[in-house]
Amino acid sequence: MTVAVSGARRTPVRVAAVQPPSFAGAEEHRNAAQACAYVARQLGVPCRVFMYDTAPPPKSDGVRRLGGTVIGMPRDELIEWMTTEQWRHEPEAFIHGFADPDVIAGHGGIGLELLEDVPNLERVVVPVGGGGLISGIASALKGMRPEVEVVGVQSDGYPLWQLASEAGGAVAPKPDTIADGTTAPFDPRMFELLKEVVDRWLIVPEPRLRAAIPEIAATAKVVAEGAGALAYAALEQLQPGPTTVAVVSGGNIDPTLLATLLS
Ligand SMILES: Cc1ncc(COP(=O)(O)O)c(C=O)c1O
Repeated sequence: MTVAVSGARRTPVRVAAVQPPSFAGAEEHRNAAQACAYVARQLGVPCRVFMYDTAPPPKSDGVRRLGGTVIGMPRDELIEWMTTEQWRHEPEAFIHGFADPDVIAGHGGIGLELLEDVPNLERVVVPVGGGGLISGIASALKGMRPEVEVVGVQSDGYPLWQLASEAGGAVAPKPDTIADGTTAPFDPRMFELLKEVVDRWLIVPEPRLRAAIPEIAATAKVVAEGAGALAYAALEQLQPGPTTVAVVSGGNIDPTLLATLLS
């Protein structure tokens, strides 16, 4: 959850400062949901989290464990609710999980940490859903070291941004991927931002993604969820040479799926 908290922390802190102590709807199928609940608990304010009703139990239970209230909604309904900004009618301040400028800026901290930890960094590979994570990382990197290449990754089970580029605008594919954390809907603001900050896109076939999870467990001793394993899974598509970091962004995988993939 560290990655998501890096993004989610800034916004509630700002929001709580100007609008105490109601707060905060987040959204979707994402680790941002738990990050929101975590930060709300730290600030001592209540938090409702709007999520897809198909969210894997580790994500929805995680929100509850952190004291947040889960509002589960069918994906299409939640996307409609977000796109038409229905959250404006809710009593709390709303935190958008990937398009909020503070959330994006918070993810910038990961870019700064990368530069500190890997001073000769030449390339960073990042899983992409709505695009907040990569936009924050890329903005920080481009500000400090514009020559670092930023590679965005999606699954072929939900290649949202590739389809959007081909169509030149909004698309609404149906997700068929284990990378549930990257099944955010199209957002026109993010479409424009991603054009600026992503140097290259890679698409990982779903069978490769499924194979990557046990590989990461065996070699790095790290449990990655589908979205979290995307960047690692994409590495085989890149020419070796440049010093490269693949961001493993989350480990909230459904235990049943994990058991299947490991067996
Ligand atoms: C594990 C994981 N990786 C990557 C992402 C992608 O982040 P973004 O939607 O900001 O692109 C998410 C989104 O929540 C996620 O949960």
